[in-house]
Amino acid sequence: MTVDAVRVGLDARSDDILVGDGLIAGAGARMRAVLPAPRVVVVSDETVAGLHLPALLASLDAAGIRHDRVILPPGEATKDFAHLQHLCEATLGFGIDRRTTLVALGGGVIGDITGFAAAILLRGLGFVQVPTTLLSQVDSAVGGKTAIDMPAGKNLVGAFHQPLLVLADMAALATLPRRELLAGYAEVVKYGLIDDPAFFAWCEANGGALVGGDVDARRHAVVASCRSKAAIVARDERETGDRALLNLGHTFGHALEVEVGFGGALLHGEAVAIGILMAFDLSARLGLCPAEDAARVRRHFGAVGLPTGLATIRGERWTAERLLAHMGKDKKVRDGRVTFILTRGIGKAFVARDVAVADVTGLLADAIAA
Ligand code: NAD
Ligand code: GLY
Repeated sequence: MTVDAVRVGLDARSDDILVGDGLIAGAGARMRAVLPAPRVVVVSDETVAGLHLPALLASLDAAGIRHDRVILPPGEATKDFAHLQHLCEATLGFGIDRRTTLVALGGGVIGDITGFAAAILLRGLGFVQVPTTLLSQVDSAVGGKTAIDMPAGKNLVGAFHQPLLVLADMAALATLPRRELLAGYAEVVKYGLIDDPAFFAWCEANGGALVGGDVDARRHAVVASCRSKAAIVARDERETGDRALLNLGHTFGHALEVEVGFGGALLHGEAVAIGILMAFDLSARLGLCPAEDAARVRRHFGAVGLPTGLATIRGERWTAERLLAHMGKDKKVRDGRVTFILTRGIGKAFVARDVAVADVTGLLADAIAA
């Protein structure tokens, strides 16, 4: 089995992202090298546990790693204080100490809440990410952002806490529902749109095969995405500059998620896809980006089956005012101004802190009317 390794270079907090086939079945042996002690608490959700926990536990047994487990309900609604409290209490109930490591087996929800629990339990435990969705393999498991949601918005309570190791097993993606895979694919395309037009062209050529099940295409996309993200995180771990580019589409996307609620009607990656198109449309409207580039991104999203606008989310009654109000509570607000990631074209994203509210309102009104 060949395994690709991508290093997130952060001095003492550096970690490796391993990408390959069968990494869950071989997780115990890989983890032993980074664990402070052979003792872990595995955190997963009910769906993922039913599919992939037995293989992980067998590998821990084979490596002589003692394990307990906490299984949470699946879905975004799990990323809240009540489940964080349950996770912390259950983990403390196992009689852990500071050398115990948490292992997140699941998508971004499990990775985010487990990472945050690891950041605060006993003032900081190590944790390992075993991401099982495409979204978590290319984005959320990389870079150390951990959080839970609040009624006021996404990810508003959290910490930067780097994992000890990330194991991205291509085999896990074989059980992932198509809708979840597509949602993760939006985050893959994002890397091309930020600063890598050649990778966007690769996505145009190979996105259909990737979504259809081509393992080589999936692996190439995961490695390329992790390399892009690792490079950005290494130069701006705490998001004082460049890291904000990773939020392309997220200012709009988070507002859509808050408006719809965290119940699964709109997946994070779907919201990001629509948000990316809004960022391109706003950039074109401001004369910053060729309209043809916005159209090209929309064509690609449509071709693979991603949402291409608000009309694709049935049953929602949007208003520009409500969406703007949600954006005002975003973490990226500075001195009362919302930060947007805008673009001068495919591969030319930049941070914009001076966008006029009237332009955003106009864009939202057009998107709602379309
Ligand atoms: P998720 O964790 O909810 O997983 C999606 C669904 O797929 C769940 O129902 C889960 O049970 C199921 N699932 C997971 N793996 C599976 C598999 N292999 N086979 C079958 N089913 C499987 O969602 P997600 O899209 O992975 O992550 C979204 C979350 O990630 C959001 O909360 C978002 O805010 C967060 N996020 C965080 C960062 C970060 O940097 N920390 C970045 C991007 C997104
Ligand atoms: N997903 C955005 C970040 O990690 O910064």
